[in-house]
Amino acid sequence: MVTENIILQNEQRFVKEHKIPQEKLEKAIDDAVMKLEKQIIEHGTDFMATFSVDNKYDFGANDNWICGMQTGTYWLAYELTGKEIFRDVAEKQLKSYRERLDNRIKVDDHDVGFVYSPSCVATYKITGDKEAYQTALDAAEYFYNRSYSVKGGFILRSAIKAQTNPRGCRTMMDTLLNIPLLFWAGKETGEQKYIDAAISQAKITEKYLIREDASSFHHYQFDVETHKPMHGLTFQGYSDDSCWSRGHSWGVYGFPIAYSYTKDESMIALQKNLTYYFLNHLPEDLIPNWDLIFTKKDEAPRDSSAGLVTVCGMLEMCKYLPEDAPQKKIYESAASQMLEAVIDKCTGDMGVDYDGLVYHVTAALPQGKGIDECAAYGDYFYLEALMRYQNPDWNRYW
Ligand code: GLY
Repeated sequence: MVTENIILQNEQRFVKEHKIPQEKLEKAIDDAVMKLEKQIIEHGTDFMATFSVDNKYDFGANDNWICGMQTGTYWLAYELTGKEIFRDVAEKQLKSYRERLDNRIKVDDHDVGFVYSPSCVATYKITGDKEAYQTALDAAEYFYNRSYSVKGGFILRSAIKAQTNPRGCRTMMDTLLNIPLLFWAGKETGEQKYIDAAISQAKITEKYLIREDASSFHHYQFDVETHKPMHGLTFQGYSDDSCWSRGHSWGVYGFPIAYSYTKDESMIALQKNLTYYFLNHLPEDLIPNWDLIFTKKDEAPRDSSAGLVTVCGMLEMCKYLPEDAPQKKIYESAASQMLEAVIDKCTGDMGVDYDGLVYHVTAALPQGKGIDECAAYGDYFYLEALMRYQNPDWNRYW
């Protein structure tokens, strides 16, 4: 729980108004769209692996946590360009989401929202498709029944492992981008249990995963029997005491989404503290290192996706802040500078071919997976950030 009011240390840098030149923005979108068209021509409706190897994607079935974001990237491309190729493939992929749920393929964990929000919820929001709507609602129901601990008030990392293995009986920062599926289902159906579960998850995250100085633990351990809180720790970060960049960025984006449903004013201050912590720990060139313990350029592998999620979180919160809120101008400027930094330093000619829309993404460094690679969440949040920058009124998929 944050107890300090976090001061933005590099305020001078972010109070200045900043705009990405329109031509540069349009080129960034055109380049991304061209890459996606090539991807579809070569791989059709196949889904990419969780991260690239040597910046090249392998393709296969709809069976991992990032699949929804691939479909979401195609929807973003469709909304940006109106090109039918993107709508066509996103719609063709829908069947696999139904099959995945019906056959219980990797849906027993905390990431069900990542799978079903940018795919089925997005489809419904854009086209009104009834089957996508039903699949998203069924996924929310399954997620709630399977992964929400009523006695603990939190979403389990793994519903299968939680009964026997302490590693399953944890909750994590990532879940803040999974609870939008529950908020959405609650709003659509009027079922209060979904909203209550999502709020409880947000509150437990605030209480246990966010530290006094507004940094965050990646995971929090609960007792396997009682589901009572025990201690924070990391999984993808540098150490239990450090702050894993992408995990923290899920907080910067997750709380504005939770705020949009709850109008709980305390989330505005909380998100400001989280955001200022993130900005205070950026290297000079504004591309975050994979853990915020590293604050210097070239000190550690990067995670451009953490920067992009933070950009989306700041721009989402700007929708709810009054014009005179001091952090609004800072968010607008920081988002613009950080997005331009990604365009400049994580796209374009890198001397070798790269399959993603952006590079310098780090998936899970302690596990030796996807270090300085491409990944669907880098691609998705890059296009979402570009979309938000172009069109601040964009109707989000989360
Ligand atoms: N599973 C979420 C992440 O790696 O960010």
